[in-house]
Amino acid sequence: MTREEFSNKLNGALILAPLTKGGNLPFRRLCCDFGADVTVSEMAYARKLVKGDRKERALLRRHPSESCFGVQIAAKQPEEALQAAKIIEDSGADFIDINCGCPIDDTTRRGLGAALLRRPNQIAKLVQALSDGSPLPITVKIRTGWKNDSINAKEVSRLVEESGASALTIHGRSKQQRYSKAADWELIREIAEERSIPVIGNGDIVTHFEAEQHLSSHGVSALMLARGALTKPWLFEEIKESRTLNLSAEQRIEIYYRFSEYLKEHFGADDIGINRIMRFLPWHFTLFSRYVYYRYQDFDAQSPTPLIHQRLDPGIPASPIDEFLQRSDELSHRQLAEALLGAASPDQALANVLRLAAAAIAAPPYLAKQPELLAQG
Ligand SMILES: Cc1cc2nc3c(=O)[nH]c(=O)nc-3n(C[C@H](O)[C@H](O)[C@H](O)COP(=O)(O)O)c2cc1C
Repeated sequence: MTREEFSNKLNGALILAPLTKGGNLPFRRLCCDFGADVTVSEMAYARKLVKGDRKERALLRRHPSESCFGVQIAAKQPEEALQAAKIIEDSGADFIDINCGCPIDDTTRRGLGAALLRRPNQIAKLVQALSDGSPLPITVKIRTGWKNDSINAKEVSRLVEESGASALTIHGRSKQQRYSKAADWELIREIAEERSIPVIGNGDIVTHFEAEQHLSSHGVSALMLARGALTKPWLFEEIKESRTLNLSAEQRIEIYYRFSEYLKEHFGADDIGINRIMRFLPWHFTLFSRYVYYRYQDFDAQSPTPLIHQRLDPGIPASPIDEFLQRSDELSHRQLAEALLGAASPDQALANVLRLAAAAIAAPPYLAKQPELLAQG
């Protein structure tokens, strides 16, 4: 894909964010089923790629349904980034994204991720080296700044563009904020207005009406979805079709089952594969369980962000299965994962979850933890 084709591809695109732990190949495949136009790998350390680390190299694998796939790297040295870029090019990726937003100490301690926001000239050198030395389009993902009193996204964005990047993603929060505040879409709008490369907006998109508002009022070329997609992978379809899908628990279980099948296909269905899957699938239920049917009537355009890092009130569950799917505890998530993995068809998966839900209602420890349900009789 040429840089021009890539820029065209971004026009109005819905992008699945790079998601460490969450954005493995099977999950990206699921999002492509629902209409993700562009997907990005989990963050790979350039140094480990260059050293030939097997796990890191495995992050470069793509599924055939990923029609535009980028690899995100954590890098700070231009030479090392260039060596990693060659490996990424040979792996068949369509573009390279530089991570300048990861807030995790383990990454920033090494001067990577969001730590680069404190060294805008280093970001410029990296982008320049990669855009001169690699034929692939180079994109950069930034936060608004390192701290709330050092917001420098405008300056960084200018440098990124001047150094030859093909596009820029802005996650509208500082490193300091983590997820504590709503994303600053006003700043994203101002930057999109100033820049001539495509700007991709990122932060708090959970519904099609928020997506439409950002595309129409905030001047961005494309949208990147992270926790919204982890909570409901069908968010891509909702945005494309401009409607909210009110999926029943049964329909959702069918989707989760499909995901478990993709996981088996990728990691293997033998003991080793299932062990690996059990490191991911229960974790996914920490996000799936936050699913709430969020209607346009609930949307307040003045303060549109339901802070999805917190749990929204799901209301009274429609059925015992709904109740079980909303559970936030680890044991329930493991049980759900096992129920899916032990099934040979969507119907069997549903039967397994039904059994779990029924047992949970009957089990005394569950009732002991839910006195309000006992009170309701
Ligand atoms: C589980 C998880 C893993 C993430 N991993 C990465 C990553 O590897 N690279 C990255 O640039 N951002 C990563 N992010 C940040 C997201 O890409 C995104 O910028 C952020 O969550 C804001 O979008 P949202 O409000 O739609 O969730 C991660 C976020 C989550 C929740």
